Amino acid sequence: MSKVKALAYLSKIEPYLPGDFSVEGVSETVKLSSNESPLGASPKAVAALDRISGDLKTYPDSSARLLRMAIGKKYGLNPERIVCESGSEQLINLLARAYAQSGDEILYSQYGFIAYKIAALSVGARPVAAPETHHTTSVDNLLSLLTERTRIVFLANPNNPTGTRIKYSEIERLRTGLPEDVLLVLDAAYAEYAIDEEYQDGCTLVDTPEANVVVLHTFSKIYALAGLRLGWCYAPAEIVGVLHNLRGVFTVSSAAQAAGIAALEDEQHIAQSIKHNTEARAFLGDALSQAGLKVLPSSANFICVQFDSAESAAAADLLLRQNGLIPRTLNEYGLSDCIRITIGLSEHCERVARLLTKT
Ligand SMILES: Cc1ncc(COP(=O)(O)O)c(C=O)c1O
Repeated sequence: MSKVKALAYLSKIEPYLPGDFSVEGVSETVKLSSNESPLGASPKAVAALDRISGDLKTYPDSSARLLRMAIGKKYGLNPERIVCESGSEQLINLLARAYAQSGDEILYSQYGFIAYKIAALSVGARPVAAPETHHTTSVDNLLSLLTERTRIVFLANPNNPTGTRIKYSEIERLRTGLPEDVLLVLDAAYAEYAIDEEYQDGCTLVDTPEANVVVLHTFSKIYALAGLRLGWCYAPAEIVGVLHNLRGVFTVSSAAQAAGIAALEDEQHIAQSIKHNTEARAFLGDALSQAGLKVLPSSANFICVQFDSAESAAAADLLLRQNGLIPRTLNEYGLSDCIRITIGLSEHCERVARLLTKT
């Protein structure tokens, strides 16, 4: 047995379970388990990838300058305050490494994205989950669990895996209730799918004198570039500096940078993806609700269906899988009575609806 020992606290980490992508014995499957975009990437992003293939020998621009400028233009943000990484999950981990350590606490909502818990454990911090109300973040419960040891609060809005979200006024209330030395990380991975006018990702809170808010975005969802690994954050200048010191130099490939820029520019494809998601999400949600199933209100590109028991959820999961549609079970979230289903193409939503309304 090896005498080389990893840090003892790392043994508490339960690895992240990615969504399944195949079912034994079923040859044709549709992956509805990882909240990927059914319309795929913009053809312009694909063309940009083709172009970059002519120069793979050159290292990427480590500062991702052109990409940051393109993000700044699209989202109305200062490019100097944007940090790009190989997926926003990397930024979650970097922020945990930079701002928490053994003995500290990292706070998040009960059914918050599981990467927050993993990030906390990976730096030896204590993960603290604030109970939710009706599968929705409770700002009161988050605030009530603040202690002197709290260093970071992670909040996905809309949240994965529930799909629920809280109002922007609640985010402001959370931010106001935090001590200035606690970092608030607002994870806007699903921002583009939250279409009602009241929604804001929180970037305006970054530019306040307290300088303790960071907003995360990803190219994995609406831009459909999950396979290329690309995410970014908007952060106060000091935090940008810390992230640059900590991150690897060439973590964002030339391919990801080129495709990201092209994807941002394809307004038509973005609009089409949002429109499809909005309509198909309403169709599937309504079909299941009318059949008596409980569908959590979703502002994202998936729905979370709650069954009357873990057994019923497992039966629905099996039925879908046997028919080639792969949803996501949520046992590791403590939601064994739920399954999460990505909004696929209309025909996939229709098949899901037909199967689940028969049970
Ligand atoms: C809430 C949330 N944040 C972050 C991520 C990570 O995204 P990325 O692919 O950019 O690492 C996900 C991925 O599913 C997510 O659901």
